[in-house]
Amino acid sequence: MSPDAPLLFFDSGIGGLSILEPTAALLPNAPVVYAADTAAFPYGTRSEAEIAARVPALLGRLVERVRPRLVTIACNTASTIALDHVRAALDVPVVGTVPAIKPAAETSRSRVIGVLGTQATVRQPYVDDLAARFAADCTVLRHGSAALVELAEARLRGEPVDPAAVVAAAQPLFDRPGGERLDTVVLACTHFPLLADWLEQAHPHVAFIDGGAGIARRIAQLTRGQRWPAAAPPGRALFTGAVPDAIAPALRRFGIDQLGSL
Ligand code: DGL
Repeated sequence: MSPDAPLLFFDSGIGGLSILEPTAALLPNAPVVYAADTAAFPYGTRSEAEIAARVPALLGRLVERVRPRLVTIACNTASTIALDHVRAALDVPVVGTVPAIKPAAETSRSRVIGVLGTQATVRQPYVDDLAARFAADCTVLRHGSAALVELAEARLRGEPVDPAAVVAAAQPLFDRPGGERLDTVVLACTHFPLLADWLEQAHPHVAFIDGGAGIARRIAQLTRGQRWPAAAPPGRALFTGAVPDAIAPALRRFGIDQLGSL
């Protein structure tokens, strides 16, 4: 394994940065390629068939091009629909991002937990299965929001975003029957940790959790013993759509300096 072989992170947009950040903290010298399928963004309003066809094909092309040591699907929507297809299609290790229902069920005292994701994610059988296996004694309330995805993108672009709009977009979860007893909410879309501070302020008695730290540990475990460059090389981002210059300052904060097209 060449020390220069990168970690590849993949999302529809900028959400995967919430997985990249804790990974870079654990593996500071890791070369990083961040790929965003902006031409098909957002994934959350697409059909299962579209995602299942698109994501493995795109990741196949990306792996050919950047030769990563490991691929992270830093997107709950793509992972809950296409993780098995991607693993079957690629010959590199693939880490998925699936809703952190297990840790939520381990810590909830009220036994009422929430899953806040995209519309596509919250209807997946994968989520039914996680709830049945790890949260069988909990009430699991779900809400899918496309607005929250857009608000996270706008915030990262540096546009003015009203925290009240973020809180309002999440409110239907709390308005479900039993919602007043929610004490733990899974941020089941990688865009949402980028809005967590505002959700926490509005719901101080609720723990908002996501899988970022656990996924970072998994990546570190799978690459243990491998060689890395002596110093962190500049990170690269690749986009399927037009290169979004407005996002460049935010990407620099995550160590990504080079933007290009896929
Ligand atoms: N960030 C993605 C996720 O974790 C998808 C957002 C979208 O494109 O709808 O589900």
